[in-house]
Parts: sequence; C-alpha cells; structure tokens
Amino acid sequence: MKETSLKLAREHGTPLFIIDHQRIRDNYRAFKKHLPRVQAYYAVKANSHPEIIRTLFDEGASFDVASYNEFMQVYDYISHFEEKDKEFYIWDKIIFSNTIKDTATLSKIRRYKPLVTFDNADELKKIKAHCDTAGVVLRLRVPDVGSQVEMGSKFGAEPGDARQLIDQALDLGLVVEGLSFHVGSQCTTFDNYAVALSIVHNVVCDTEKRGHKINIVDIGGGFPVPYDSRVPQFARLAAVINAECERLFEDDVEIIAEPGRFMVATAAVLVSEIIGKARRDGKIFYHINDGVYHTFSGVVFDHWVPEFEAYRTGAAEVCAVVGPTCDSFDKVTLSAQLPADLEIGDCLYTENIGAYSIASSTRFNGFDGARIVHLNN
Ligand SMILES: Cc1ncc(COP(=O)(O)O)c(C=O)c1O
Repeated sequence: MKETSLKLAREHGTPLFIIDHQRIRDNYRAFKKHLPRVQAYYAVKANSHPEIIRTLFDEGASFDVASYNEFMQVYDYISHFEEKDKEFYIWDKIIFSNTIKDTATLSKIRRYKPLVTFDNADELKKIKAHCDTAGVVLRLRVPDVGSQVEMGSKFGAEPGDARQLIDQALDLGLVVEGLSFHVGSQCTTFDNYAVALSIVHNVVCDTEKRGHKINIVDIGGGFPVPYDSRVPQFARLAAVINAECERLFEDDVEIIAEPGRFMVATAAVLVSEIIGKARRDGKIFYHINDGVYHTFSGVVFDHWVPEFEAYRTGAAEVCAVVGPTCDSFDKVTLSAQLPADLEIGDCLYTENIGAYSIASSTRFNGFDGARIVHLNN
C-alpha cells in the first residue's frame, strides 16, 4: 500500500486519505468468522463515509447510529434495497445506541419504530413521551479498565439499578428488548468482556425470574485493532466471548455488537506533505498539510498516537510533526523518528487511520481536509 499511496498522492494531491474497501470486507469477514453468533451493527460514528456504509451493507452488516442524521443516512440508504416489513426490518438493521437523545430527535424517529438504548429514568420518560413506538435496550455500566477510550464515566446504569429501570420501562408500557454495554474503545483487557457478560447474565436471570424475557444482548464495541504487535489477537478475545455467550445465554437470545474501529481503522492510510521545516530549540519541526483539527483529530478525541514513515531513508532523529493551522495546539507528535534530511515537498505516510479521523475533522483555519480516494470499491 505504501508504494501505491505515493503514486496516488502524485496523481490526486495531498493530503490524501485512501480507503481500501477490500480491507473493510476482510475485517467484516474476520469478525463474522470468529464471532459467528454475533450480528455486527457497524458504529457509523467511526467513519460515516457513504461508500463505507455501502460496502458494509453489501457484506450483510447492520448499523449503530448516534444521531438523527446518522439514522437517516443509514435508513435512506438501506430502504432503497429492502422492501420488507419495516418494524422487523429496522430492528434488524439499525440500533440507536446514544443513550441520550433530544426530544426533537425522538419525535422524528418515532414513525420508524426504532430500537434505542437508555441508561436512566429521565430518558425513559422522554422516550415514552416522544417515541413510544420504540423498543428499548438498557445500557449497563461495566468495567472499562485499560481501554484507550473509557466510557463508564459518562454512560451506563449501575447494574444495581437495572431492576428498577426495567420495571419503570415496563410500567410505562415500553417494550424492553435487551441489555447492552461498552467496555471502552480499543479494549485490550479481555476480562472486561467476561465481567460485562456476567453482569448482563445476572440481570437477564433476575428479569426472567420476574416474568420478562430479554431477547437481545448487545456487547457494544471496543474490539481492538492491531495498531502494533503488543495488541492481543482478536481471535483470543473472540474465543472468550464465544465461550461466555455459549455458557450464559440460551440459543434464542440474539447477540449483537457495535464494532466501529475494528471495521475501518486498518482500511485507510494518509499521505501528508511537508510544507515547512524549522529547527526549534534544536529539534526539527516538520510542518505538514494535515493536523489535529483535520485528519489527525483522533490524537485529541481518540487518544490516538499516530506513527509516521517517510518514503525515503536517511539518518533518523526525534522530530516534531505539526499541523498547518496557526494554533500552537496543532501538534500531531513531538517524537516521530524520521530522517533529518526530509525537505519541503517530501511526503509522510500514516497507516491505520480509518477510524475517528475524517469523522471528527473540522474546517478550522479554512483548511478543507484531506481528499478521499477509494480502492477496491
Ligand atoms: C455506543 C457505542 N457503540 C459503539 C462504539 C464503537 O466503539 P469501537 O470503535 O470501540 O468499536 C462507540 C464508540 O464511541 C459507542 O459510543
């Protein structure tokens, strides 16, 4: 890919974001192969490019959306292709997994009878008032120890409150369909999943004992991407999840997941270009034409540490790589190992940049952001 990327950059200009759709298919197929019981609802927030939605839809994926716009993006796309009964169809294809939704959003999605998550009593009242056609999924707080992005501090009901929340939902006449969790993004502590599944199992048993069946267990996202060789293998995690699901849940419980980065992170690379070079306090600063307000936004929002490679060799030293805006915050890294003799016009290569990158890019300082090209779509 590295060689091809430079050719494409010469052809299309920089910064250039190259999406390899075969890699997305491979990731989806690996997920299905290792977790055959689990239906993947791709978390659109990771990268909402319409071509990615199309590739994953063609593979058989469902979708996890976080906002009305994401909901409609997916709904409009898939309703071109499917003419099935909408109620059954939409739960099969879309989950609205943002636990907090404004009342306008709830009112607008009411007509689609959606599947939505919640984690508190006020949200339930809102759902009842503005979207009483919804099926609801209670999101539980679970351990997110060691994950790159923690979720538990903002989302999830305490397991001890589950009984009361489920009773409230049932009293309001809502359809309580499932339980969900998120172990934190880029989760490399596989015990988090095992503990979460056991917490969910306790709530399933308690709810069933009191006469209500839970039909869906949603194991969220967090599936780790092999950014480097220290990341434990997905196959090992899958073995843990398969064994626990087999042990804890009857065959008629549907297991779904919301993988985001796992599907797309490895499927894109970025070619950026050096537009300025300076020595500051003795260190080389390469100023490039992309930065943390743009494709490298994951450095801020995703706690991501990107790696840079040059396209030519040379004696390396520790360099800073900084973005093009006038903001001193726009520093991508202060410790890239790069040849010291790179020049203005040379390009840099960054892989594994498909998730939480262009999705959260801005137009700060008037920069457009990277051009996008597709391979194998
Ligand atoms: C509710 C929910 N589901 C799924 C995801 C996707 O997580 P990941 O990219 O770790 O798979 C996120 C990420 O923020 C999320 O908030």
